[in-house]
Amino acid sequence: SLPIIIDCDPGVDDAIALLLALASPKLDIRGVTVVCGNVPVSATSRNALQILELAGRSDIPVYAGCPRPLVVAPIYGQFHGVGGLGKTELPAPSHDVAPGHAVDFLIRQLEHALAADQQITICTLGPMTNIGVLLRMRPDLGPAIARIVSMGGAYREAGNRTMTSEFNMLADPHAASIVFSSDIPIVSISLDATHQVMATPERAQRFLPYKGRVGETVSAFLSHWDRNDPRRYGSRGGPMHDPLVTAFLIAPHLFETERARVFVEHSSPLCLGQTVADRYGKSGETPNVDIVTKVDAEGFFALLEEHLARYSPV
Ligand code: BDR
Ligand code: CA
Repeated sequence: SLPIIIDCDPGVDDAIALLLALASPKLDIRGVTVVCGNVPVSATSRNALQILELAGRSDIPVYAGCPRPLVVAPIYGQFHGVGGLGKTELPAPSHDVAPGHAVDFLIRQLEHALAADQQITICTLGPMTNIGVLLRMRPDLGPAIARIVSMGGAYREAGNRTMTSEFNMLADPHAASIVFSSDIPIVSISLDATHQVMATPERAQRFLPYKGRVGETVSAFLSHWDRNDPRRYGSRGGPMHDPLVTAFLIAPHLFETERARVFVEHSSPLCLGQTVADRYGKSGETPNVDIVTKVDAEGFFALLEEHLARYSPV
C-alpha cells in the first residue's frame, strides 16, 4: 500500500477526508500532522486525535505543527464551528499528540525513505505552513517526496475567502509559494474540482441509514456542511473539498488533470493567495502541477459510501 502522511487542519471536511483514507487498505498512513488553519493548532490536534479514535486507529501518531503562518496573521475558517468539527461533540481523546514537532517527524520519515530508496506521498488538506518550513529546512529531502496532493487554490473558479483566493492558499500564501515553486510533483485539487462534487441533501441522506458512530458522525458533518448557496455552487449542499485528496489516492480514475506551472501570489493586497496557472507556457518554467479539471461526483459518493460501510456498525 501507498505510504502517505496527511497534513491537515480538521476541520469538518478534513475529518471526512481522514475517515475515507483510514478505511482504505490501499493507503499506509504513517502519521497525521496538523497545522493552524480552520482553528488553532491545539484544536486541530485534538480533532485529529478524536477522528483517529472514532476510526479505531489511535495507533497512528498525530504530530502538532506550526501554530501560525509564516508571515501573515492567522485568519481561521468560517464554516467549521467553534471547535472545528461543526456541532459534533466527540468523546475527549484518551491519548495525546506524539512528542516533537510535526516538521521534525516529516524530516525523520523522509530521511528514512531516502535511505531506503523509497518515497512518501504528502497530502495537504490545510494551509501549507508545515510543508513550507520542511522545504526551507531540508530542501535535500525533496526527492523523498513522491508527490504532494493538495487541496487548495482556485483557477477558473473565483475564490471562496476573497474574490481571487481560496482559504488554504490565503491562510499562508508564503508557504504555498515555497511549495509550488519547488520541483516536487504536485496534484492540485482546487475549487475548480471541489465545486463539482456537492454533498447535496439527497446525497447526504445516503449516509443516514448507516448505523454506527462513523456513519452518524459523517451524516452530522454533511448536514453542518450544507452551505445552501445554489447561486454560487449550482446546487444546494457543501463542496467536498478535502475528501477529494484522499479519494484521488484511492481512485485516481475518477479524476481528470491538466499539467501547468503554478504560481501563488504573496505580495498583492488585492490578489493575495491567488493561484495562477501558466497554461500556455508564458513563464518559461517547467510545468510541475497536475491541476484537477474534472471529477466524477457520483463515483466519489459511491466510493465514500462503500468505504464508510467498512466501519463496524456499533
Ligand atoms: C478549504 O478550507 C477549509 O475550510 C477546508 O477544510 C478546506 O481545506 C476549502 O477552501
Ligand atoms: Ca482543510
